[in-house]
Amino acid sequence: MTKYNNVVIFGASQGIGEALAYEYAELNSALVLLSRNEESIDQISKGIQAIGGSCFFKKCDISLMEEIKSGIEFAVEKLGTIDLLIINSGIGGPNWMNNFSSNDFINMFNVNTFGIARVLELTIPIMMKQGYGTIAGITSLADIRGYGGSASYSASKAAGSILLESARVELKKHNIRVITVRPGFVKTAMTDKNEFKMPFLMQPDIAAKRIRKGIDKGRSIVQFPWPIVMASRIIKILPNWIYDWAMDKARPVKK
Ligand SMILES: NC(=O)c1ccc[n+]([C@@H]2O[C@H](COP(=O)([O-])OP(=O)(O)OC[C@H]3O[C@@H](n4cnc5c(N)ncnc54)[C@H](OP(=O)(O)O)[C@@H]3O)[C@@H](O)[C@H]2O)c1
Repeated sequence: MTKYNNVVIFGASQGIGEALAYEYAELNSALVLLSRNEESIDQISKGIQAIGGSCFFKKCDISLMEEIKSGIEFAVEKLGTIDLLIINSGIGGPNWMNNFSSNDFINMFNVNTFGIARVLELTIPIMMKQGYGTIAGITSLADIRGYGGSASYSASKAAGSILLESARVELKKHNIRVITVRPGFVKTAMTDKNEFKMPFLMQPDIAAKRIRKGIDKGRSIVQFPWPIVMASRIIKILPNWIYDWAMDKARPVKK
């Protein structure tokens, strides 16, 4: 059971977003999927309809304000209300300092962080008018420190988590719940590119179930799996000399 009748997902064409779409469809939520890959969200939408679900889709790039605006208008037109909004869109990949690209850094912020900001700007007034709403933003357990080879990703996710936390404390009094979702490693196209060992790698459908259950339980932060959550807490407080040594072992710099 989920209490969310109408669910909108940004970044639903594959991986965790696709798994979330099926997770909510199986619990009878009506869905709007917003993503750039129109062919893929069309297929997912048809798959959901084939199992008796209600699903609409629209092409949307989270880096373009106009497309987000028309995506949200489309969602309101189709669903009437937005009960749960999931901002899942994200890009990843390494960005090592020996070949550092500021462009890569800017691109990652443009999707992972500014994407959340754009969606918040356009959705908060709608939820305030409705008098309620829930917003779940997917950041990452990688938001904890600057991981080697991951300056762009870690920084963009850290900024996303801070943005969502501020939104949470402010919007509570407007009956809008804001949730930060911080997954560990999930097997998707994004992590298939990783060359390092990914402990406790999880399938996307399992991750989607954990996210849905955490949201339903009313958590303000949904984070998993617990061994990586615990490890992240320890990593956060490690003195720099231990952290630097450990990072060099875990993700050695390519010469
Ligand atoms: N996989 C992991 O281990 C892991 C761990 C922690 C956090 N996360 C986060 O979880 C989220 C989903 O990741 P994933 O692993 O499922 O990766 P994925 O398979 O690569 O999926 C990424 C999703 O983001 C969408 N997206 C990317 N750029 C977009 C844009 N400009 N506008 C709209 N949508 C965009 C993609 O849709 P289109 O290409 O159709 O636009 C796709 O649906 C990301 O925010 C990621 O950072 C993943």
